[in-house]
Amino acid sequence: MVKSIDFQNQWHQVAGELEKENIKLMSYDQTLIEQVETWQGKKVLDYGAGPGVLAVTLQRLGADVKAYDISLEMRSKLEQRVGYGNVYSSATELPKNYFDIIICNLVLCIVSEEEVENIMSNIRICLKPGGVAFIGFCNPKIHNVAESQLDFRFFSGRHYQENHTYKKIKKEGLYEIVETHRPVDWYSKVFQGCGLILLDIILTPEYKIRDQRINDFTIFKLEK
Ligand SMILES: C[S@@+](CC[C@H](N)C(=O)[O-])C[C@H]1O[C@@H](n2cnc3c(N)ncnc32)[C@H](O)[C@@H]1O
Repeated sequence: MVKSIDFQNQWHQVAGELEKENIKLMSYDQTLIEQVETWQGKKVLDYGAGPGVLAVTLQRLGADVKAYDISLEMRSKLEQRVGYGNVYSSATELPKNYFDIIICNLVLCIVSEEEVENIMSNIRICLKPGGVAFIGFCNPKIHNVAESQLDFRFFSGRHYQENHTYKKIKKEGLYEIVETHRPVDWYSKVFQGCGLILLDIILTPEYKIRDQRINDFTIFKLEK
C-alpha cells in the first residue's frame, strides 16, 4: 500500500524516502547551497530539518549547524547525523538573536496558516540583526501542472490566488502527500508582516517536461 502523509506529524514515516531524494537534492539543496559564498564558520539553524541530509552537508562545508524538528523520530535521526549537542528538542530552546543563517525547507507548505506565522516569528527572533533566512517550498506557480520530474499532482480545480490543499504523489519514494498552495504574494505579506525584509525570490533551475517549463521550488531570501 502507498504511504500517505496527510498531517505534519506523520513525516517520520517517510524519513528513509527523504534521505534518498536525489533529484530534490540536486535541485533544491544545491540551489540553496550556492546562495552563500562561504558556509565556513556560519552559525546555521535548519528549522524543520527532517532527517538532516542538508544539515550534515552544510556541516561538512564548515558551518556550525544546529537543527530543530517537531518530530521526535526526526530529531533522533538528526542527532545521529549532526551530533547530539546540535539538536534542539523544543522551539522554546532556540537561542535569540544568534544565527547568521536560518533555513526552513519544505515545511511551511505542510503547516497551517497560524503555524506559518508562528514559525516565521520564531525565525525572526532567532536570527541575529542582519542575519538571513532562506525559506523554500514547492513553487506556487506550478500549482496547475499535472506532472513534474518530482511529482504527479491531483487536479485541485482551484485558482492560483486561493489558498488550498492538494494531493500529490512523490515520484522519488512513491508516497502520497497533502500540501498547501498559497500564492507568492501571500507568503511575501506574511514574511514582511513579521518584520523580515524580502531580499530576493530564487527559483531552482528550469527544465522542460511534456511541453511545460518548470522550476520545482521557490526560495525566499529574507533579512532581519
Ligand atoms: C517535507 S519534510 C522536509 C524536511 C527537510 N527540511 C528537507 O528539506 O528534506 C518536513 C519536515 O518538517 C517537520 N515539521 C512539520 N511541522 C513542523 C513545525 N511546526 N516545526 C518544526 N518542524 C516541523 C516535519 O517533522 C518534517 O521533518
